[in-house]
Amino acid sequence: MPASPSALPVWHELATHRAESAATSMRELFDRDPRRGTVLCAEHDGVVLDYSKNLVTERTMGLLMRLARDRGLAAGIEAMFGAARINTTEDRSVLHTVLRSPASESVLLDGVDVVGPVHEVLDRTSDLAEAIRSGRWCGATGRRVRTVVNIGIGGSDLGPAMAYTALREFAQSGVEARFVSNVDGHDIDRVLGGLDAETTLFVVSSKTFTTIETLTNARTARRWLVDRLGAEAVGRHFVAVSTNAGEVAAFGIDPANMFEFWDWVGGRYSLPSAIGLSLMIAIGPGQFRELLAGAHSIDQHFRTAPFEGNLPVLLGLLGIWHRNFCGAQAFAVLPYDQRLALLPAYLQQLDMESNGKSVDRHGRPVGVDTAPILWGAPGTNGQHAFFQMLHQGTTVVPSDFIGVLDPAHTHRDHHDLLMANLFAQTRALAFGDLDSSGERPPHRWFPGGRPSNTILLPRLSPYTLGQLIALYEHKVFVQGWIWGVNSFDQWGVELGKKLATGIHDDLTSDRAPAWDSSTNALMMRYRRVRRAGGADTATAPTDEMI
Ligand code: F6P
Repeated sequence: MPASPSALPVWHELATHRAESAATSMRELFDRDPRRGTVLCAEHDGVVLDYSKNLVTERTMGLLMRLARDRGLAAGIEAMFGAARINTTEDRSVLHTVLRSPASESVLLDGVDVVGPVHEVLDRTSDLAEAIRSGRWCGATGRRVRTVVNIGIGGSDLGPAMAYTALREFAQSGVEARFVSNVDGHDIDRVLGGLDAETTLFVVSSKTFTTIETLTNARTARRWLVDRLGAEAVGRHFVAVSTNAGEVAAFGIDPANMFEFWDWVGGRYSLPSAIGLSLMIAIGPGQFRELLAGAHSIDQHFRTAPFEGNLPVLLGLLGIWHRNFCGAQAFAVLPYDQRLALLPAYLQQLDMESNGKSVDRHGRPVGVDTAPILWGAPGTNGQHAFFQMLHQGTTVVPSDFIGVLDPAHTHRDHHDLLMANLFAQTRALAFGDLDSSGERPPHRWFPGGRPSNTILLPRLSPYTLGQLIALYEHKVFVQGWIWGVNSFDQWGVELGKKLATGIHDDLTSDRAPAWDSSTNALMMRYRRVRRAGGADTATAPTDEMI
């Protein structure tokens, strides 16, 4: 395979095609084919993707499909599902899809089945979740668990936090979940605030069990618990989810209360593993397995459906069209459902940590633009914040609008209004203001031509959330494969972590810092306040002092 996708003839054909078609308006495309809105639409197992409001034609889609084929996407998909070590820099397979494989299936890694162990852990987490929900598992003083606090960060936080926020209506066991991720002490103070130690269970979630933020929060939580209930209570109030049994034991958590996952599950792909334990306790193992089933449905679709109707392939290729041929720098995710408020943050890690890379799988410069800047917020709130820029700004931002047809509440008037706004926004972005009557000042001009996808779910449930998660996971895979990057490592976050350790040592010592002049001066300001015991008591800095 050529180093960069830009070396492929089809890449040049796409660039030429873009140059030739750039002046075509969305209105012209819709006028040319009155059926466009139903033709450029794909559906699988209740999930609908309308991609008609993109500046694409039959030829665009044909070329994008050829790009996928010439870049060996089918082989890439099989390599992932078939346990090839496609995470080259860490020499690992990428098998998060196994987390949702039915027990009857078998996937061999180095000749050993991995589906069996996945279901063993799933059964163990299910037992614990049931025991907590039924009151069979009690705290050290015999009281039932009422709050589960997940301590984790990144993939060990965003997935369960996002899914719990989305599925709170399914959590009716009387067990509430809370999430602490930031090493900022305000975060743990707020999470622990008002909690009763006797009814609180901590789930320390960390793939590596070496992440400083998580371990710092876990130690603080342990102190908080020991202060109230004594050291012997730790065993009933702490469990762990990790790949690192040694560090879990060193922290003082009984290995019998550790739930394992594997190095072939990337952190940002780990929600369907035991990392989802806090969610499972809240919504119950049956509902959690529904989430796995929904994800599995999309896995099967991704693996077997022809590219032309394959939802993740379509989303991935349209993203490539926008990013690499139309010059889009950013991408917005706009769920028209408050329950999906954390989806943009979750997808930020999934997309930007996976594909925010400049070298390919073989260490060569990737040669084309990779992950766009991803952001978003629930509609309609976003409309009253940043949509101005989407409609009239100088940067075109392609977006995904996500709607849910049937809400879980009974306020029909609210839902009608919400969905009307979703449909109105995509129409306004696509076509601008169609009313050509009368003079209009330039600031009232809506140019249109701004692309969006509309994704519709029948309802928001564990099953459809599982579908949505897998849909975006595989979209990210498609893009990473075409760009040629390793979507499953994250070396870019290492340098910051290493530097933080050295700077932390200097901040807490009397040594003169020897970094750059800016960092030194900032550190000295902090040290002065730290030494004085507060900002009000510290003397004002002079130039000599910094
Ligand atoms: O931020 C880097 C990262 O390694 C993420 O990829 C990961 O999700 C997060 O840290 C947390 O890691 P762990 O689960 O090992 O604590």
